[in-house]
Amino acid sequence: MKFFQFKSLFVVYVLLNLQTQYLVLGKPRVPCFFIFGDSMSDNGNNNNLATLAKANYKPYGIDFPKRSMGRFTNGRNLPDFIARYLGFPKPIPPFARTMYAKGIKSLRGVNYASGAAGIRSETGQAKGMVISLDEQLRNHEYTISKIDRLLGRNESATRTYLQRCLYVVEMGSNDYLNNYFSSSSYTTNLLFSPQEYASVLLKQLSSQLKILYNQGARKVAVFGVGVLGCTPFAMATHDTRGSLCVDEINNAVQLFNIGLKSLVQELNANFTDAKHTFIDLYQISSQGPPVSFTPCCQVKLSGEQCDPYGKICGNRSEAIFWDGVHPTEIAFMALANRSFNAQLPSDSHPFDISHLAQLKLP
Ligand SMILES: *[C@@H]1O[C@H](CO)[C@@H](O)[C@H](O)[C@H]1NC(C)=O
Ligand SMILES: *[C@@H]1O[C@H](CO)[C@@H](O)[C@H](O)[C@H]1NC(C)=O
Ligand SMILES: *[C@@H]1O[C@H](CO)[C@@H](O)[C@H](O)[C@H]1NC(C)=O
Ligand SMILES: *[C@@H]1O[C@H](CO)[C@@H](O)[C@H](O)[C@H]1NC(C)=O
Repeated sequence: MKFFQFKSLFVVYVLLNLQTQYLVLGKPRVPCFFIFGDSMSDNGNNNNLATLAKANYKPYGIDFPKRSMGRFTNGRNLPDFIARYLGFPKPIPPFARTMYAKGIKSLRGVNYASGAAGIRSETGQAKGMVISLDEQLRNHEYTISKIDRLLGRNESATRTYLQRCLYVVEMGSNDYLNNYFSSSSYTTNLLFSPQEYASVLLKQLSSQLKILYNQGARKVAVFGVGVLGCTPFAMATHDTRGSLCVDEINNAVQLFNIGLKSLVQELNANFTDAKHTFIDLYQISSQGPPVSFTPCCQVKLSGEQCDPYGKICGNRSEAIFWDGVHPTEIAFMALANRSFNAQLPSDSHPFDISHLAQLKLP
């Protein structure tokens, strides 16, 4: 009995604590924000993994306040900006840090993203260890059990809490660059046509999004894959055949994006108590002014990541690419801006993230 009282007091304390935090700093539009993704979103989960896909060395992070290491850019990344626009005072912590911490650290959200990771579990493994989307979802299960304990093991309270959160899923780029179009390490290119491969990826992503739904997610933004065929890395490693970019890669990615947009519509039709939205990163990033494809940092021979001893460009606000594949902070900000507040109807379907966050669900 004593223990029970103590536990309830603790719950009240946690809720009060969260409330004061909101009062002081302005209430975020959602109580919690969970992120599933790859290196566009990773903020340190790969730091202690045995992989080449990590960014915990200079010049990565040089523009981040307090030099937080592990982001694949010079400063803040996509979810950092979205968290900020949602009203969170601080970035959402990486799972690598919340994993060993008490539940309260997980309450306002967790970032599970892992550089080189994909929808398929073998994706990115040619570079070493990676936390695939399946594994990220298992990590989320672990977070949920901690939140449940914190809320007094009250299933209905936990469910109510989780369904008010925002979830983003930003996956697929590596299933192309670090799988399908990396034929020295993978056989998918031999097994599937681009259309078949897009279908295989979408089928798997569909089951993964259903797992997330079953875990209680009701507001889910799913990002499409960007203009991968125009990254400096793709252009250095593939023949552009006289085109501005590598059309073969862009065409393959577009098949995936078109299917993903339909998948999101289908999920909304089938699960009427949830809202999913498709953010068209390809569309958003192909409509800017003509830009330089030169990476800001000097990239390593492999062409993807920065050389720790290399030079960096003079004005980081003028570059779109930070390294061979990743946007600069300013480019991430532009992508986040239009994901959050659509500028064109084609930016997101059926709504942008600010509207998704504000939706009242049944
Ligand atoms: C569980 O939480 C709900 C609020 O979601 C509350 O109404 C209910 O009283 C709680 N149940 C217990 C046993 O504490
Ligand atoms: C939605 O429901 C239809 C009809 O039951 C089904 O054929 C389809 O596979 C479902 N789609 C998804 C993504 O669950
Ligand atoms: C860097 O470029 C931006 C955008 O063109 C410009 O506004 C800024 O003044 C430049 N900064 C420096 C130090 O040259
Ligand atoms: C993003 O939006 C903010 C707020 O509207 C604006 O100040 C900033 O210039 C925008 N940045 C980019 C790169 O579009």
